[in-house]
Amino acid sequence: MDNFTKPKVLVGKKADLMSRLADEVEMGIRMRAAENRGFVLGLATGSTPIPLYQELVRRHREEGLSFQNVITFNLDEYEGLAPDHPKSYHAYMEKHLFGQVDVRPERTFLPLGNYEDESRAAQYYEAKIREFGGIDLQILGIGRDGHIGFNEPGSGRETRTRRVALAEVTREDAASGFGGIENVPTHAMTMGVATILEARRIILIATGEGKREVVQEAINGMVNSAVPATFLQDHSNTAWYLDAAAAG
Ligand code: PGA
Repeated sequence: MDNFTKPKVLVGKKADLMSRLADEVEMGIRMRAAENRGFVLGLATGSTPIPLYQELVRRHREEGLSFQNVITFNLDEYEGLAPDHPKSYHAYMEKHLFGQVDVRPERTFLPLGNYEDESRAAQYYEAKIREFGGIDLQILGIGRDGHIGFNEPGSGRETRTRRVALAEVTREDAASGFGGIENVPTHAMTMGVATILEARRIILIATGEGKREVVQEAINGMVNSAVPATFLQDHSNTAWYLDAAAAG
């Protein structure tokens, strides 16, 4: 691979990575505000981005960073969990970010977990993203099995927002938070791979040794649906933010 196509990888201390990422978010917000436009931010859940949200909240409180012109779209939600369920990603976002900054609640979107009609819920979500002009910056984590969002192995490049079955390893990783794997939902609603790849810029954050193998595979492996994160190799504006343990 020549330098032009090489994926952009930034390796650093976790706190520094989060601060760089917060800089990118802040720059996007300010740039769009100067144009009198909204900044469309794609958000991830899980343990990895929590320090990013803490840093954004700090900047809001101490430096006056405003989220008034921010529109957010989360990647996914567990099936069957109402927004006020404590283990829902709706509740996670409320706790870690939305409840602590001045984002307008009507401009924070997550896929619905307790939908009645799955295809209507999925289409509604795709339409909302389009209505706001597409995602400017998508923040991603990566699962041990190479999932992005809840696009588990087998998810193709053309997939869009839809209902999916969760992989066993994903449910295992979530088990402690739910008090046992038997309590972890078996399905979820997730943005698709194609939905994610339409973001103008993508930053994937991975920290810790447990992610090392999958990160190597995602960056250097053959692009295919067995490791959905490999599809990011085809996106021209993706950066990988890794701590030393994940970078290997
Ligand atoms: P984690 O999850 O941040 O909790 O490791 C990442 C993911 O599953 O995408």
